[in-house]
Parts: sequence; structure tokens; C-alpha cells
Amino acid sequence: MISAFPEGFLWGGATAANQLEGAYNEDGKGLSVQDVTPKGIAGPITEMPTEDNLKCIGIDFYHRYKEDIQLFAEMGFKMLRISVAWSRIFPNGDDTEPNEKGLAFYDGVFDECLKYGIEPMVTISHYETPLHLAKTYDGWKSRKMIDFYVRYATTLFERYKDKVTYWLTFNEINSILHAPFISGGILTPKAQLSKQDLYQAIHHELVASAKVTEIAHQINPKFKVGCMVLALPVYPMTPSPDDMIQTLALDRSNLLFSDVHVRGAYPAYAKRLFKENGIELEILPEDTTVLKNTVDFVSFSYYMSICETSKDVERDIANILPGVPNPLLKASEWGWQIDPKGLRYVLNTLYDRYQKPLFIVENGLGAIDELVQDEQGAYTVKDDYRIAYLNDHLVQVEEALKDGVDVLGYTSWGCIDLVSASTAEMKKRYGYIYVDRHNDGTGTLKRYRKQSFYWYKDIIASNGASL
Ligand code: BG6
Repeated sequence: MISAFPEGFLWGGATAANQLEGAYNEDGKGLSVQDVTPKGIAGPITEMPTEDNLKCIGIDFYHRYKEDIQLFAEMGFKMLRISVAWSRIFPNGDDTEPNEKGLAFYDGVFDECLKYGIEPMVTISHYETPLHLAKTYDGWKSRKMIDFYVRYATTLFERYKDKVTYWLTFNEINSILHAPFISGGILTPKAQLSKQDLYQAIHHELVASAKVTEIAHQINPKFKVGCMVLALPVYPMTPSPDDMIQTLALDRSNLLFSDVHVRGAYPAYAKRLFKENGIELEILPEDTTVLKNTVDFVSFSYYMSICETSKDVERDIANILPGVPNPLLKASEWGWQIDPKGLRYVLNTLYDRYQKPLFIVENGLGAIDELVQDEQGAYTVKDDYRIAYLNDHLVQVEEALKDGVDVLGYTSWGCIDLVSASTAEMKKRYGYIYVDRHNDGTGTLKRYRKQSFYWYKDIIASNGASL
């Protein structure tokens, strides 16, 4: 069988520190916004970490990363996407000196990856703003955040310049539109956050992202820096021109982020968006210069598509962003609509728009798994539903490759079961590896290979030919 996947395609898996490391207060780590959100993105903010916050222990990757990376290596991973917990390195965020124990932990993780020939990809900020920055500065609303973030990212670039090549500046940067606390560390309640403040915070993040892209390239010209957006293809609900115009507007609200990252300036349509919403951004002259430091590639998460209509109807929350459900698509147990062809569509539209290499850094099915014994008596999960989901999506990646799209790699989300982001539970599993931990906090934390583990191993070994 001939594979459409190019040689050197980066197959692997993706994770985030706050969802798997645990050890939330060990070795000098400070608190982050995750430590006070036990119920996930839409849930309440607690004063201090509470016992029901599953992220405090996570899946204990902090102490078990060697075992986990060995399992990833067994599947043949070429890449592992992790994030660095900002508050492990700068416990308060505005500290002047980094925490050596935090830095040493990631040295260990990267060394372990490299031992097996696994290339690490690092998300610098994955919904883990130090809590102190949220409480003291209201997160990215403040321009001061740019300096704190630059200091933090520069520390990582210098420390790991010979171990890490691929960097992502902000996870799903456009999610700040709907989750300002988790995504942007903005403590002001969403309902009271003005569009002016929200877009000023976005501007600060965009400047910070461009600034560290510049620094990264100075520190190591071989570094590849990407932006990371939540990709959500929007289909018009009907052929009505009004629906189409509305679709265009919704699409642009998300595309604005990658447009700035790739083109180095705000797009023409931003002018009207800002004017009609009474937004007057404070853009310093140096910001305009900094923004010109564009990314090397565009990465994105893809889970589902949504519809848009000009009618005034209820919107569901699709992943983190609101959308109108598509009547033609089935949904996961969490209501996320399954649309493999939407991935081909996203790959094509982003490539047509930017002609930049693309990277699918998240995709997967969150499902309830049952640990059972196989014919030989070994414990496993018969997750044919997950295999079907991933296979269907990868077939569409193959189609996009045939369409001529330049795709660098694919790291499926939550390659080992971890705590979910939106609802902060264990029950919603994405992994090839089952972790014995449950919503009530019980479990041995033992790891088990699911059926999808062997399926993915074959896919990687055949470079996609066994799809
Ligand atoms: C993305 C996030 O939104 O989706 C991840 O980058 C998250 O952190 C993933 O885990 C899946 O979402 P959830 O809520 O099912 O964990």
C-alpha cells in the first residue's frame, strides 16, 4: 500500500501540564488558574485548591513520566506535545528568577523523550496562567503580562535550546473570546468584561506571541514557532445570503488570530469589527513592528464543526465556543458533533489562506471507556468507537495531503487518559492508554493499553498506509 503521508510525518500525541502532571504544589510550583477551577472551564472559581479538583493529582505524570514515555515510544511516537506549567517555572509569574526544580523536571521529560527519538513539542501557555497574575493584574488585560510572558518564554528557549525545536505560543488562543479566565487569566467575570478590555487583552497576547517568536529565532534560528488556534469550521445553516454573511463574520472572529500571526498585522475586516463594537485599541508604535515577527507554521485543534444562522436561536457550547448544531451530524456523548470531512475542509481553507505548513496538534474522541479482560485475561479497553473516529479523521488528512496541503504532523489529543479541560473529569477519556482514575478521585493510577494503542502503533509503523 502506498501512503499519502510524507516521509518524516510527525505522528504522536498531545497533552497539557495541568491535565496530567498533578504535583500541583510540589518542588516550588505556584498555583495556576487550573488549581482553583475544580469543575472546569464553565465551573466556579474557588478560593484555594479543593479536594474534588482532579487536576491536583492529575494522572501523576510528574512522578510517572518515564513509564508513560516508554509506552508512547512503544507506539512508535515521533512527537510528544506537552505544555510547561508556567507556575512551575515562575511560581507567581512576576518573579525575577526561575525555579530551578521546575526547570529540572522538564529537562528530565525532554531527555526521556529524546532517548527514544521522540521530538518534544512545547506549548508555552496552555490554560495555565499563574494565579497570582490573574489576581494581581487581571491577567492579559494588563500590558505588564507581555514582559512576564517574554521573561518566561525566553527562560525556556535558553534552557532547552538543544532539546526542543517546536514551540507553540498560546494554546487555542481564540478561546479567550469565550473563556477569558482559563484562557487569558482574566478574573473579571465574563459578563462584566467589556469588548474593549477583551480585545485589548487579545492584542497583548498577540504582541507577546510575536515578541517571543522574534526572540526564539534569535536564540536558535532552527526553532520552529507556531500559533495554535481552536479550528471550528462554520457552515451556513441554509443557502440564505444572510446566513452566509453571518457565517463569514463568525469565521473571521476566529481567523483574526491566525491572520495576525501569519500576516503580521491586523486584517482589513478588523477595522469594522472594532468600530462597530466601540473598541479603540491601544496599539503602541513598537507593537506594529513586533507583530511583523510571523510564525513558521500554523497549528490547530480540531474536534467538530458548527452551523451559523442569521436567526436568533439558542447556541450550544461547541468545545469552548458557542455554535448552532448541525442537524445532519451525530454527536459524541458530550454533544461534540463528529465531522471528519470538516478536518479536510479546515486543512484546505487554512492552507489556501496562508500557504504555511499546518500541524494538527489536537484531535480525538472523548468517550466513556470500560476496562475489560481480553481472551488472554489481560485488561484492556475495546474502543472500536475511538479507532473509527480517529481512522475517519486521518482518512480526511490523507485527502487533504492529496489536495496538496502541507501537513507537518498529527498529535492526537490526550494520548494517555487525563483530566478533561471543559468539565475537569476523568470519565471523558481520549487515550490509547487507560489510566485507572475516576471522577470521585479513586483508582490505582495503573496504566493499561487499549485496543486503539495497537491500532495507532500500526498506523505509525506503516506511515498511514494501514488506515
Ligand atoms: C482543547 C484543549 O480545547 O480540547 C484541551 O486544548 C482539551 O486542553 C481538549 O482537553 C478536549 O477538551 P475536553 O474538555 O474534552 O478535555
